[in-house]
Amino acid sequence: MVKIGGTAEVAAGGIGRGIRALVDDGARVVVAHGGGDELTAWRRAQGRHTVWREGLRVTDDQTRDDAVLVFRGLVAPAVVGDLQRAGVSAVGISGPDGGVVRVRRASKLLGWVGAVRQVDTRLLDDLTAAGHVPVVSPLGVDGRGRLYNVNGDDVAAALARATRARALVFLTDVDGVRDADGRVIAHLDPPQARRLLRQGVIAGGMIPKVRAALGLLDYVDAVCIASGTRRRALQRALDPAGGGTRVAPAPPL
Ligand SMILES: Nc1ncnc2c1ncn2[C@@H]1O[C@H](COP(=O)(O)OP(=O)(O)OP(=O)(O)O)[C@@H](O)[C@H]1O
Ligand SMILES: [Mg+2]
Repeated sequence: MVKIGGTAEVAAGGIGRGIRALVDDGARVVVAHGGGDELTAWRRAQGRHTVWREGLRVTDDQTRDDAVLVFRGLVAPAVVGDLQRAGVSAVGISGPDGGVVRVRRASKLLGWVGAVRQVDTRLLDDLTAAGHVPVVSPLGVDGRGRLYNVNGDDVAAALARATRARALVFLTDVDGVRDADGRVIAHLDPPQARRLLRQGVIAGGMIPKVRAALGLLDYVDAVCIASGTRRRALQRALDPAGGGTRVAPAPPL
């Protein structure tokens, strides 16, 4: 399971070949993407400003429509194009397609922000069994068929768990999780992660990644957080000496 941060820079990185290598090795790969910066920029270009509440995007009707347009119309095709260029049969879907990501409203105050309630992996299983790589946009559907904006990291974590992924790789716009001195932490264990979250050293968009990692340690072999902008980004992320962060319990002494 690979989650690609939405920034154009990350999407343009050399991720395609890494995914191609995994697929050629027989791995079933699912990609999820974000796109918060693209959504904010697109809205700004339309003269609409974005309201944040405790780091989360307040999503009114117009913002939700903008999210659908930007994720499904701009970000996903860019990722699919990147993967196709590397010879990967990427297929863009979004959470509501095939009922893959079912959500409920996360909070009244946030509007159309969904919290993942349930994942139906059948469409993903069918696609990966046929050799395709699903590229999942961060949207969800509720029991009444209404669409929601969902944090891409939460989607990736839920899909990793439901598909019994061996690894979850977050490719983002920083080299990894930084400590209070700005140094990338190569091996982040749960007590240190919880401490850095409490101290606010892990903030903003890094919070859902680290929280997801902590929640997944019993289910996946590895959760990696690394730069998506470097060459061989995916290979480096999966390499314990590749310069990113690996979240795992402390090894026994
Ligand atoms: N301790 C930390 N170490 C590293 N980055 C941190 C830390 N605390 C906060 N951050 C921020 O988290 C950001 C990454 O999350 P962000 O949500 O911006 O990107 P993304 O999730 O990859 O993209 P998208 O949200 O579009 O999917 C970094 O750019 C950095 O500013
Ligand atoms: Mg993010």
